[in-house]
Amino acid sequence: MKKMTAFLMASAIFLSVFSSVLAQPAPASAQLPRETEVQKARRLQWWTEARFGMFIHWGLYALPARHEWVKNRERLTNEQYQKYFEHFNPDLFNPREWARMAKAAGMKYAVITAKHHEGFCLWDSKYTDYKATNTPFGRDLLKEFVEAFRAEGLKVGFYYSLPDWHHPDYTIDRYHPLRAENDADYEKLNAGRDMNRYREYMKNQVRELLTNYGEISIMWFDFSFPGKHGKGRDDWDSIGLLKLARSLQPNIIVDDRLDLQEVEGGWDFTTPEQVRVTKWPEYNGKRIPWETCQTFSGSWGYYRDEYTWKSPAQLIELLIDSVSKGGNLLLNVGPTGRGTFDRRAQDRLKAIGEWMAVNGRSIYGCTQAPEEFVAPPNSLLTWNPSSRRLYVHLLFYPMDGIWLKKMADKVKYVQFLHDASEVRFRPGSDENAADLWLSLPVQKPPLEIPVLEIFLR
Ligand code: GLC
Repeated sequence: MKKMTAFLMASAIFLSVFSSVLAQPAPASAQLPRETEVQKARRLQWWTEARFGMFIHWGLYALPARHEWVKNRERLTNEQYQKYFEHFNPDLFNPREWARMAKAAGMKYAVITAKHHEGFCLWDSKYTDYKATNTPFGRDLLKEFVEAFRAEGLKVGFYYSLPDWHHPDYTIDRYHPLRAENDADYEKLNAGRDMNRYREYMKNQVRELLTNYGEISIMWFDFSFPGKHGKGRDDWDSIGLLKLARSLQPNIIVDDRLDLQEVEGGWDFTTPEQVRVTKWPEYNGKRIPWETCQTFSGSWGYYRDEYTWKSPAQLIELLIDSVSKGGNLLLNVGPTGRGTFDRRAQDRLKAIGEWMAVNGRSIYGCTQAPEEFVAPPNSLLTWNPSSRRLYVHLLFYPMDGIWLKKMADKVKYVQFLHDASEVRFRPGSDENAADLWLSLPVQKPPLEIPVLEIFLR
């Protein structure tokens, strides 16, 4: 009897817990639009095939010209930072020219900082005075940017900073310019600041950005830093922001910095920053869409006295390397306070463009090569799954030829990609019998990284 009662009680508890689970509002993730893997792949298809985009970090920090985090690094107050707002007047701003340079470099999309951490807005937001239209320049830069890039056939995306070092309601955290010296001081510092109002502000702004500027293809939220004196999904209401973004622009592609890693539908692609990944990134054992964002030098915003600029060959290699591991490259330009791309950036874009003009076929629509193909030493492989062509990028030009391992019976024809000149080949003998020898001219063709295009049997 006792046993029976216990059993009944247990079942009653189980049933009530079970039905209360059923009756409860669905978990947050379920409120996000659902889609199958195939649907997601289709939504991301243009982006996956594009492979190469331009990041643009532009704001008031172009004036101090010593890093976009200058306000944080030098612990500047709003008052101290105000001189940059008062002198912001990029009189040479010509977004058509930017768009032409991006296109000529081979880029297919561009993502611009609508608002960076400093809080300054490039557009005419109704919800703040801290915006381009109130500077001496007085124009909605975002509107002109969007129109110009679209006119050149590039897709446009917005970067939107979650941190805001200017907004009066944004609470002071460990990355804030006014951060405290010791733990106990945070509470005092934050008296009167109200994150509810700030969350509302972000929603209003995201609504503006995704309503007033036509089709926006990418939303790049940046960034979360949960933990002590940090901020994460609840501070931003990440689910709310993401739901809003997806409802206003159902095809939009969103990065992974809202702190929603394990939430289904919480991100579309991952964003390794300033690193060269060693292999195709995975989540739960599955390869995931990814894009590395990279600077020409060490800073995202225009930095006059920074000299660690990568060479054209290094940048081209970075692009090839990303595609060879199934990813994209978002390469950053930090325009100057006059609104121009500085000479160093222009030179590099031009060099990449020259290479892309004849080698784009090994980049667009390409991905990591199937495992059966082994990259020769000092080379990177990419693969076009539709045309079934294999591309060998020669990072270090060899003396007289290269071996393709285990490919003796697989190859129909080989040519240099840049000029479609034949590359002759023959199978090896003895221990190389399964391999193929490609004879290359002694002189390296006149381009940074020569590419072999291999037509398979
Ligand atoms: C970092 C930095 C930021 C930059 C971003 C680009 O999160 O905070 O300045 O915009 O990386 O990925």
